[in-house]
Amino acid sequence: MTTEQQPRAQWLGRWGFVLAATGSAVGLGNIWKFPYMTGEHGGGAFVLVYLVCILAVGVPVMMTEIAFGRRGRGSPIDAVRRVVTESGRSSAWSLLGWMAMLCGFMILSFYVVVAGWSFSYLWKMLSGGLNGSGVDDMVAIFVANNENPFNLGFWSTLVTLATMLIVGKGVQAGIEKSVSWMMPGMVVMLLILIGYGVFSGGFGEAWRFLFSFNTGSLSSEGMLAALGHAFFTLSLASGAILTYGSYLPAGASIGRTTFSVAIADTLVALMAGLAIFPIIFANGMSPEGGPGLLFMSLPLAFQAMPLGTLFGILFFVMLSMAALTSSISMVEATVSWLVDNKGITRRTAAWGTGIVLWLVSTLAMLSFNLGADWTLAGRHFFDWLDYLTSRWMMPLGGLGMVLLAGFVLKSESFREELGLAPYWHALWLFMVRYVSPLGILVIFVDALGIARLEFGVHWPWLLAVLALITLVGELLSPRLRRTLAG
Ligand code: TRP
Repeated sequence: MTTEQQPRAQWLGRWGFVLAATGSAVGLGNIWKFPYMTGEHGGGAFVLVYLVCILAVGVPVMMTEIAFGRRGRGSPIDAVRRVVTESGRSSAWSLLGWMAMLCGFMILSFYVVVAGWSFSYLWKMLSGGLNGSGVDDMVAIFVANNENPFNLGFWSTLVTLATMLIVGKGVQAGIEKSVSWMMPGMVVMLLILIGYGVFSGGFGEAWRFLFSFNTGSLSSEGMLAALGHAFFTLSLASGAILTYGSYLPAGASIGRTTFSVAIADTLVALMAGLAIFPIIFANGMSPEGGPGLLFMSLPLAFQAMPLGTLFGILFFVMLSMAALTSSISMVEATVSWLVDNKGITRRTAAWGTGIVLWLVSTLAMLSFNLGADWTLAGRHFFDWLDYLTSRWMMPLGGLGMVLLAGFVLKSESFREELGLAPYWHALWLFMVRYVSPLGILVIFVDALGIARLEFGVHWPWLLAVLALITLVGELLSPRLRRTLAG
C-alpha cells in the first residue's frame, strides 16, 4: 500500500506516459547507433534478433519497472522501499533504487555533452559554419569544436539549462507539455527527411542495407549487440522509466503502454535509418560508425545536395529534440526524490540538481580538451561514466529488479499491479524469472570479458541451458524466497 501525505502528480492525458516514456527511449541510441548496428550486423536478420531481444528482455523488464513505480508511487528509492516492505522484505533492497537514480544522473552527465554536439551543429548549420569541401575539413571542424572548453562547455551548459527549465516546471506543465509537441514534431521531421531521401536517389540502397536478409553476417557478436542495445534503447534500469511509471494513473494497463513504447521506439529507430542512409549513399559515402556518421559524413552530404542546408537544419533540430526528451527523463528521478524527501520545491530541486550536474558534466566535457591527459586505467572521466553505467549499473540494476519481482516479492503485488490475464501473467513471470535474467547475464559476462560467448549457431544449447535453469529455479524458488527474506 502506498502511504501518501500529499497526492502525487499524475500524467494528465492518456498519452502522457506513452509520449514521455517514448521520449526517454528515443534518443541518440535510435538515431545514430541502431541504424549503424543494423547495417553492420546483417540487416533484416539483425532486426529480427533485436525484436526478439526487445520482447524477451526489454518488455518484461520495462513492465517490472513501471509496476515498481506505480505501486510504490515514488522516486526509485522510495518506490522500491515501499514495494519490498509491503512484501515484508528488508528495506535494504532500496539500494537498487539508489543505484538506478545514480545511474540516471551519471548517464546524464555525459549525455549532455553529446547533446551539446547536436545543439552546436544545429548552430553551425544555421550560421554557415559547416562549409568545407571534404572529409578532412569536417574532421577539422569536429576537432575544433571539441578543443575549446569554452565552446564545448557553452553547449553542454545550454542543454543542462534547457533540461532543468523543463523539469523545474513540473510533471504536467513541464515534461508532459514539452513532449506532447516535441515527439509528434520529431516524427513529422523524420517523415520529411525520409521523403527527401526517397528523392535523393539513395533510397533503394538504404532499404537493402537495412532490411535485406543477410544471415551470413549475423555473428554472435551481433546478437550480443542486439541484446545490449535492447536494454539501452528502452532507457531501462536508470530510474527514468520507474519514475515516469510512478505518475501513471491507476487504471492504465501497464502491458499495453509498455508495448506502445517499445513499438514506437523501434519504429523511430527504423525510420531514422531510412532518413539517414539514403542521404549517405546518394553521395557515395560509406556508412561508418562513431560520431563520424552524424557529425562528419552527414553534414558533408547535406552540403552537396539541393536544399541541403534546410534539411540539415531540420535534421539537427530533430536530433536535439530527441536528446532533450531523453535528458529530462534522466534527471526526473533525482528531482522527484528531492521533492519528496527534502521538503523543497520542485524548482529549487531542479536548479540544485542542475548545479551538481553542471559540475560533473563539465568534468566530463573537459575529457575532450584540457583534460585529454587525465586518465585512470586508460579511460577518461567521460569514458568512465559511460563504462560504469552501461556495463555495470544498468545490467546489475535490471537483474536485481527482475529477480526481486520474480522470486522475492509477494506475487499478489505484481498480479494486482500488472492486472494481466492469467496466461499473460504466467508468461511475464516466466520471462522475469528465467529469460530476462539469462539475457542480462549474457550481456554481463560478455561485457566483463570473463568469457567469449559464441552462441550464434548453438540455439539448441541455449534453449537447453534455459530449460535447466528453469527447472532448478522452480525447484529452489520457495527456499530461495525464504533465504532472501529480510
Ligand atoms: N534510450 C536512450 C537512447 O536510446 C538512452 C538512454 C539510456 C537513456 N538510458 C537512459 C535515456 C535513461 C534516458 C534515461 O538514446
